[in-house]
Amino acid sequence: MLSNDYNISRGLYFTQYHFLYTLSNGQLMTKKLHIKTWGCQMNKYDSSKMANLLNSMQGFNWTEKIEDADVLLLNTCSIREKAYEKVFSMLGRWKLIKEKKPTLIIGVGGCVASQEGEYIRLRSPCVDIVFGPQTLHRLPEMIKHVQKTRTPIIDVSFQEISKFDRFPEPRAEGPSAFVSIIEGCNKYCAFCIVPYTRGEEVSRPSDDVLLEISQLAEQGVREVNLLGQNVNAYCATTYDGEICTFADLLRLVAAIDGIDRIRFTTSHPIELTDDIISVYEDTPELVSFLHLPVQSGSDSILTAMKRAHTAFEYKEIIHKLRKARPNIRFSSDFIIGFPGETQADFDQTLNLITEVNFDTSFSFIYSPRPGTPAAEMVDDVSDQEKKERLYILQQQINQQMLHFSRGMLGSLQRILVEGTSRKNIMELSGRTECNRIVHFEGSHKIIGKFVDVEITEVLFHSLRGIVVHI
Ligand code: SAH
Ligand code: F3S
Repeated sequence: MLSNDYNISRGLYFTQYHFLYTLSNGQLMTKKLHIKTWGCQMNKYDSSKMANLLNSMQGFNWTEKIEDADVLLLNTCSIREKAYEKVFSMLGRWKLIKEKKPTLIIGVGGCVASQEGEYIRLRSPCVDIVFGPQTLHRLPEMIKHVQKTRTPIIDVSFQEISKFDRFPEPRAEGPSAFVSIIEGCNKYCAFCIVPYTRGEEVSRPSDDVLLEISQLAEQGVREVNLLGQNVNAYCATTYDGEICTFADLLRLVAAIDGIDRIRFTTSHPIELTDDIISVYEDTPELVSFLHLPVQSGSDSILTAMKRAHTAFEYKEIIHKLRKARPNIRFSSDFIIGFPGETQADFDQTLNLITEVNFDTSFSFIYSPRPGTPAAEMVDDVSDQEKKERLYILQQQINQQMLHFSRGMLGSLQRILVEGTSRKNIMELSGRTECNRIVHFEGSHKIIGKFVDVEITEVLFHSLRGIVVHI
């Protein structure tokens, strides 16, 4: 897994692939790469693919120190405010490094690159490469182009050829892996920039997805998280020409030897159809935890957001899911202070949170995104009100989350042991089915395995426990 600043484990991983190149004085040197990643899980996934690609095709080794890098890449996010300022302030710092090391190649990718294209270079001429989420597979040839010609290159197109065909075989980085199954989004929610920066929905062929997961399972992966802006819109054809829906894909993934846990992120409620709900009835590999963003509990705000469902319809889906899987828990995303949101609208959001009894949630203050329909609306909720509402909502969610955590005290939880704890390498950590992090003592031999842990302590963001069965 990758943190915002990318994960140190990449460094360890890269040492296995020690490609060298010869300097003019005959000295051998490794080429070094650093990627700074902002934003969603998709960006983190893309960055890991970029690193693998540049390692296997051009021998780049990972470095944590940006001053040591020969190629510096910035994978950007524009979902909320200050995206541009953040990008250009980072580039300002990188420019100083390039002044000392003129051969340094700087590339900018992700959603800000996709939206701004050439403008990135106009404002920041130190940038050599501008690439989009759909052209990152071209990085090796783009880097070669810059090395050869010392001229910049920009490609933020949405290409027909799938970038996935160009990626090397996946390499497991632990027992849990992300696998992208669909790119882009067609929903055009009024506030959201994603359809403009990542393009329309394109599903990966199901045989390719299944092959990637089988290869990961052979390397010890036990849990997959199927990724996409809107995974439940997944619809692809098999090599035999058969249709494969998201429900079909879930059952096929569950049948892969070694895959015992399936998660997916993210879904839109209008496409959480009955055939997907039925998978919860017969597929125990699918976790009893679902992130299903609702954004607001007010029908008038949902309409203004172009979410295409009411609060009641959302609750109906939750009801059906609970019927199919009685112990299922939910999390959501909420936007606070969307244009026109009154106190009454906000109260309806709070009511929905209580009624659905969400376990955890992400909540964001509305941020107008240039080019989206909502950016044309009057942003009439004051900053003060937005902050107050966010605080109230988060307090309520936190209380619910703690209530669920406390309910787990003394219970046995099945944990996939992911590795040593970040804060204490003498301890191990892993996640429950409902995604809570649990810390416990144990032998390193159980890393990558499922174990039963009795929960002995509840902390705000995590749990502690004792291994009972291996
Ligand atoms: N389906 C996507 C949603 C992407 S955006 C996914 O992969 O999660 C993630 C969340 O950011 C949204 O659900 C929404 O709550 C929030 N968001 C998107 N645009 C926003 C904006 N303009 N202002 C505030 N929050 C926003
Ligand atoms: Fe954005 Fe709505 Fe798609 S939130 S990613 S346009 S489902």
